[in-house]
Amino acid sequence: MSKVIKLQQTKTLFLLVSLLLSLNMLVSCGDKTSKKESQEKTTFKIRKNTEEKSKAPTTVATIPQSENKLGRRVFLLCAACHNVVKGEAHKVGPNLNGFFGKKAGTKEGFVYSDDLKNKGIIWSEETLREWLENPASYVPGTKMAFVGVKKKEQQDALIAYLKEVTTE
Ligand code: HEC
Repeated sequence: MSKVIKLQQTKTLFLLVSLLLSLNMLVSCGDKTSKKESQEKTTFKIRKNTEEKSKAPTTVATIPQSENKLGRRVFLLCAACHNVVKGEAHKVGPNLNGFFGKKAGTKEGFVYSDDLKNKGIIWSEETLREWLENPASYVPGTKMAFVGVKKKEQQDALIAYLKEVTTE
């Protein structure tokens, strides 16, 4: 009689223990997956954030409208590398806002070639025309990889457009 009871007791104990064990496994298993999921979520978020950041400078770019249609059209050649609106980012080239009358190579936050900085150019119609004609021959060693604008009519229109839209 007491033997049977003991046997039954051990059986129930065994059942209980195995039940607890499997429950424990289930719980820790769930833990693992949820941890993994939350990790995936955070990495995704981080990646998304950096993408948004790296896109920011290019999404903020305005090519101002003007009566000077030819000037604006020629400026499209420059717009890939230059913003003109105050407060917008530097691109491959510096933001040109307010550059007329200033010394070349002095915009804050842009790394110029030493050659442009040391040439001592003051930007005027004359110096700009020479620059536009052929940047690399006016400033040998410049970082501006651009062949130039050769036609006088296009130079005139572009200079007038730049004067209009880069004025602070
Ligand atoms: C491929 C990119 C690129 C294009 C296209 C380009 N530029 Fe540039 N620009 C630059 C870079 C880079 C510099 C800095 C040059 C250096 O440090 O030697 C620069 C410098 C300048 C500067 C001197 C700015 C300063 O602060 O002294 C002027 C003015 C300028 N560019 C005007 C123009 C105009 C106008 C056009 C279109 C006809 C043009 N650029 C097209 C990349 C470009």
